Amino acid sequence: MATNTLHLQAIALAAVLLICRLSPVTPAASAQQLTGCRDKCGNINVPYPFGIGARCARDEGFQLNCDDSASPPRLLTLQFEQHPQLVSLSLADGEARVLLKPESKCYPPPEERSSDVPTSSYTSINGSTTYRYSPEKNRLVALGCPNLGYIVDGSGNYVSGCMSACRRPSLGNDTVPRLPGRCTGERCCQSIIPPTLNFYVPRMFNFENGTAAVDNELRGGTTPCRYVFLVEHTWINTVYNDTKDFNRSDFEAVPVVLDWAIRNVYNCSAAKRNATDYACRSTNSECFDTIDGQGYRCNCCQGYEGNPYLDGGCTDINECLRPEKYGCYGDCTNMLGSHTCVCPPGTSGNWTDRNGCRPKDNFPLALKVVTGVSVGVFLSVFMCFWLYLGLQKRKLIRTKQKFFEHNGGVILRQQMHSGGGTHGFRIFSTEELKRATHNFASDRVLGRGGHGVVYKGVLEDKTVVAIKKSKMMEEAETKEFAREMFILSQINHRNVVKLLGCCLEVEVPMLVYEFVSNGTLYHYIHGKEPKADIPLDTRLRIAAESAEALSYMHSSASPPILHGDVKTANILLDDKFNAKVSDFGASKLAPTDEAEIATLVQGTCGYLDPEYLMTCQLTDKSDVYSFGVVMLELLTRKKALYLDGPEENRSLVSCFTTAMKVGRHQELLDSQVRNEMSAEMLEEITYLLMRCISMNGEERPTMKEVAERLEMLRRYQQHPWAEAEDNAEEIESLLGREQQNANYQLEQQNVLYLEEGRNYTFSM
Ligand SMILES: *[C@@H]1O[C@H](CO)[C@@H](O)[C@H](O)[C@H]1NC(C)=O
Ligand SMILES: *[C@@H]1O[C@H](CO)[C@@H](O)[C@H](O)[C@H]1NC(C)=O
Ligand SMILES: *[C@@H]1O[C@H](CO)[C@@H](O)[C@H](O)[C@H]1NC(C)=O
Ligand SMILES: *[C@@H]1O[C@H](CO)[C@@H](O)[C@H](O)[C@H]1NC(C)=O
Ligand SMILES: *[C@@H]1O[C@H](CO)[C@@H](O)[C@H](O)[C@H]1NC(C)=O
Ligand SMILES: *[C@@H]1O[C@H](CO)[C@@H](O)[C@H](O)[C@H]1NC(C)=O
Ligand SMILES: *[C@@H]1O[C@H](CO)[C@@H](O)[C@H](O)[C@H]1NC(C)=O
Ligand SMILES: *[C@@H]1O[C@H](CO)[C@@H](O)[C@H](O)[C@H]1NC(C)=O
Repeated sequence: MATNTLHLQAIALAAVLLICRLSPVTPAASAQQLTGCRDKCGNINVPYPFGIGARCARDEGFQLNCDDSASPPRLLTLQFEQHPQLVSLSLADGEARVLLKPESKCYPPPEERSSDVPTSSYTSINGSTTYRYSPEKNRLVALGCPNLGYIVDGSGNYVSGCMSACRRPSLGNDTVPRLPGRCTGERCCQSIIPPTLNFYVPRMFNFENGTAAVDNELRGGTTPCRYVFLVEHTWINTVYNDTKDFNRSDFEAVPVVLDWAIRNVYNCSAAKRNATDYACRSTNSECFDTIDGQGYRCNCCQGYEGNPYLDGGCTDINECLRPEKYGCYGDCTNMLGSHTCVCPPGTSGNWTDRNGCRPKDNFPLALKVVTGVSVGVFLSVFMCFWLYLGLQKRKLIRTKQKFFEHNGGVILRQQMHSGGGTHGFRIFSTEELKRATHNFASDRVLGRGGHGVVYKGVLEDKTVVAIKKSKMMEEAETKEFAREMFILSQINHRNVVKLLGCCLEVEVPMLVYEFVSNGTLYHYIHGKEPKADIPLDTRLRIAAESAEALSYMHSSASPPILHGDVKTANILLDDKFNAKVSDFGASKLAPTDEAEIATLVQGTCGYLDPEYLMTCQLTDKSDVYSFGVVMLELLTRKKALYLDGPEENRSLVSCFTTAMKVGRHQELLDSQVRNEMSAEMLEEITYLLMRCISMNGEERPTMKEVAERLEMLRRYQQHPWAEAEDNAEEIESLLGREQQNANYQLEQQNVLYLEEGRNYTFSM
């Protein structure tokens, strides 16, 4: 049986809880009273179960009256004999505050005392079923001296009390300063009261018939009136002011806090058994037992507010409308009895804080890790690659530096610095030349030879240049290379192809020359589409200019610069067919000692000085020999070696000398030359030619002599009639130059050959 009841109770409780959570309510204006009942008296709300009038209150214990005659209207409870005023009412706390008059006893002064029966009045709750004196909020207070105040319950038993006394005026200074709110025994005492107190009778001990001992200490000072009453503790500790007079019988009413409850059943579980009588009417309400004995009260469930004692009295709280109270500053959704709160989309954080929702970090941790790792990996790969490239580049730079040093770049640079002006000569970088030639593209090739390839290049400043990229270079050459470069760079002659610079960062240095537009002399005279006619004057001029250039090279420096490979392919023609001797890159400084004598024979077949072939010693006369061959080519328009002829006549030189011996050399000359040239001229030029190609180097004239003679012949060819006057001038100027250049030996008689018109024989 007992277990069944328990089960039932449990089920009932569960059902109530379930109802509390889930039952839907129609949210209505939260009414506090039954329909047709006043819910206000003055400024005090009167919620059900209280009611003004018998019909409106739950029972007579909750019945109130409203005295509308007073201003403001006064709410009165009917539970007390004197119908004291009710000044506040709270459903949630289960509290009511009433004003009650204290019990007082006033004695007239002894001399005026006619009777010892004091005036008396007291107030109490007469066995109320609704109210109890709140033990937490009320105190028993006795005022006046001497006063032993106490209260007794309905059956006359002592409940609580305290003793208040005053100092004897004769024994001490009664003017000690008093502090307000002190109720510690002197003139005022207080005591706590037990719970469940709903009735008391105040009492005061009569000191008139006391003993002497009592007289002495306790009856020291007397006050006309003494009081004993219950009062709210905040009143006695803050409002009470003991400088008040203790001679008033009409002591003002004091506030007393009452706990109210539905007390017709013992507890909630008992109350729920009688559904018609159960006070917690609202479906969204819950019942709880009072702590001061019999009774229960009702509350709205969590998330609801209103009056639980009325049907539908508890309504849902829209928490979203009160963010401060419910701590939702995010996106709020109200639900019955609750709400949800989240930070707005795209934000996260503490929505209970006004600025708690912050823009979301859209990067989840996992993604961060993945990103971090991949960035790290990428960076390290990149770093490795970069490092590798850096090392490669360093290696390249080191290689370049090595070549640069090996090729004498340092010395060259020093010489350029110490040797004064650079005359536009500069050291190029590999990249510069690569850019200039489109990375040595094949369409930039100007010519290919045994030594290397010549490219046409355009520098960044739009200068057109010819870049000679040699195939290889002898170890011995590299040693002298820088010095030679330097000397060549100093040369500035209009008939010498200017060396603009070099690039030393490669194994075999590249040379950068000025670009000469009209190709080689070789091409000019032996080209595939040969010029139909080349005037003798042009031929003489080209010869004279070339000779002048070589002569300049031989005489301008010490030791002299030897070309070593004079041939028609090394004489270039510019746009006005001016001759420019090129390829001094392969040239040599005249050896200064035995050890420097070249060990390798250089030059081109057909042009080689036979003496050089035998001695391996290149001299300025070797160039003269080679130049002789060039002159021969110019006059005969035949190649130095023509491989299609009969075996003994393949060399132009031997062919010519053979013809010379039999006096048929004229037949070898180009027909145009034969036509244009006078007999004297032919004689003169043949004489010069034969001297140049003499087997014996010492018999050959110097380059300077050749140059001057050619120049004279050219002038003669141009203006044979002005020869006489010109000659004198010429000689004069030549003599003048001789003084400047002591090395030069002018053979004056040679100048006069023409005038004398002699015939010459040659020893071969
Ligand atoms: C309560 O008051 C009534 C009159 O209102 C009285 O008859 C009754 O004796 C009182 N009860 C007590 C316990 O004082
Ligand atoms: C009481 O104290 C006041 C000032 O403190 C003093 O003037 C007065 O004489 C004292 N009276 C007695 C009886 O000691
Ligand atoms: C005080 O005592 C006297 C006699 O000693 C008596 O007559 C009087 O009634 C007593 N007064 C009270 C209030 O008990
Ligand atoms: C106490 O009462 C006296 C006279 O009524 C007044 O002068 C004094 O200011 C009061 N003290 C306090 C703290 O209320
Ligand atoms: C109360 O005492 C004051 C002086 O302290 C006096 O003026 C007043 O008349 C007294 N009132 C009564 C009813 O004794
Ligand atoms: C409620 O009161 C009844 C007696 O009326 C008692 O048997 C029961 O145990 C009480 N329940 C609680 C929860 O106090
Ligand atoms: C329930 O309460 C009402 C009124 O309070 C009463 O009339 C009725 O007898 C009670 N029912 C039971 C079963 O206690
Ligand atoms: C959220 O903010 C409130 C108010 O600033 C604070 O009391 C609470 O501790 C915070 N909660 C968290 C989880 O930080």
